[in-house]
Amino acid sequence: MSFNLNQLLEDRRGENLKLHQEHINPQFAKVLKTIGFDVPYLRGEGAYLYDANDRRVIDFLSGYGVFNIGRNHPKVADALKQLLDSEHPALVQMEAPLLSGVLAEKLKALVPSELNKVFFTNSGTEGVETAIKFARSATGRSKIIHCDHSFHGLSTGSLSLNGGDWFRESFGELLDSQVIPFNDIEALETALKDKTVAGFIVEPIQGKTVKVAEDSFLQQAQKLCEQHGTLLIIDEVQSGYCRSGKMFAMEFANIVPDVLVTAKALSGGYIPVGAVLTKDWIYKKVFSSMDRCVVHSSTFGQNNAAMVAGIATLEVLQEENLAERAQQSGERLMSGLNKLVEKYQFVDEVRGRGLMVGIEFKRPKSLKLKMAWDLVHKVNDGLFGQAIVIPLLSDHGILTQVAGRDEDIIKLIPPLTLTEEDIDYFVECFDQVLASCNKFPGPIWEVATRLTKIALTKR
Ligand SMILES: Cc1ncc(COP(=O)(O)O)c(C=O)c1O
Repeated sequence: MSFNLNQLLEDRRGENLKLHQEHINPQFAKVLKTIGFDVPYLRGEGAYLYDANDRRVIDFLSGYGVFNIGRNHPKVADALKQLLDSEHPALVQMEAPLLSGVLAEKLKALVPSELNKVFFTNSGTEGVETAIKFARSATGRSKIIHCDHSFHGLSTGSLSLNGGDWFRESFGELLDSQVIPFNDIEALETALKDKTVAGFIVEPIQGKTVKVAEDSFLQQAQKLCEQHGTLLIIDEVQSGYCRSGKMFAMEFANIVPDVLVTAKALSGGYIPVGAVLTKDWIYKKVFSSMDRCVVHSSTFGQNNAAMVAGIATLEVLQEENLAERAQQSGERLMSGLNKLVEKYQFVDEVRGRGLMVGIEFKRPKSLKLKMAWDLVHKVNDGLFGQAIVIPLLSDHGILTQVAGRDEDIIKLIPPLTLTEEDIDYFVECFDQVLASCNKFPGPIWEVATRLTKIALTKR
């Protein structure tokens, strides 16, 4: 009997939450239900998701930033179908696969020439683990410096570089690391002084805060790292592949890191993938002899599906001018949202680059709203943002996320293919949701109070 995917999807339709409650992550399933995000989507296309009633939802989340070219891009889908039809051999392992060689060549053409070796991974965190190991091997040192509020993944090495204590809780002792304030060059200089630091890792745009690293900070960090024998590791897992308005956000500062970590959007969202680009001398230190030629490797790292999807995705990014489009769309989005900063007392700032945009909220001035704000914030700093994200989806068909736990920030990372109409619609809807925040008592505060009660009962 042949396998029938459509039949399977049809037969099991609507069982999503039940299956996850039983077999995968009951707490996550509970959260989805609580905030009304337990919508089983049936179709994805470009910047849109469609539910069982064919209701269109605009996706400002992009699967945590993997769909820069939009969901189910036909060119990448076709490339993958061709691969399956070709019967091209995969994972021979004791061979030098052609397709990973081709993708490596294409990636190198996008970055400064000093970054001339490519290591493929299956995820962002695996790329960060690679960077940690390369930095340790190349310098003979162990400590890694990172920034506060940083996020570099959740495996134990990258967790050691997490800028929030909450993620680390209960996971025991981690790697030798030190945190410095984001954009604080003096703190970096002090931390590097004793020359025991293997690497300094930084996101050009922080995923959890959507704060942009100052160009001068990155430029001086490059100099300081060079002076102190520390590797500069730039983590573009989220900001890479045109999201910032450039192919890589580090281009704004015109820097050349020692290690560049990329992942997420490289395969158009189809196949887990990551690519770490680094300098020749670092590669030579790690893979220092024939004996050590696979001292760092991963079984699926160079798998054909990821490589083909990567090659096709790079073509789409360039053919559709998605860097330029992200920059223009980002400007339109931020300019629309900035008008709301003036209009609403609880909107503090709109920031970002390209289509990586953050909206930060602040304690309002009026007595009534201040009281409501304080009530919600006594329980959890992320609940106010969550109370906004909920009606954006339920009332307006817009999928967004709070940037992080305990952050009063909503992050927007839509596909870069978003239209001007989508952007204007978002600003209009966001305006409406904020307008209802001005009313206390009112619907937004009711949602916030409901979330507060649930959070309290869970304690
Ligand atoms: C900047 C950054 N680095 C690393 C990671 C980890 O990537 P992954 O989830 O693919 O392991 C993320 C994920 O969000 C990220 O944003």
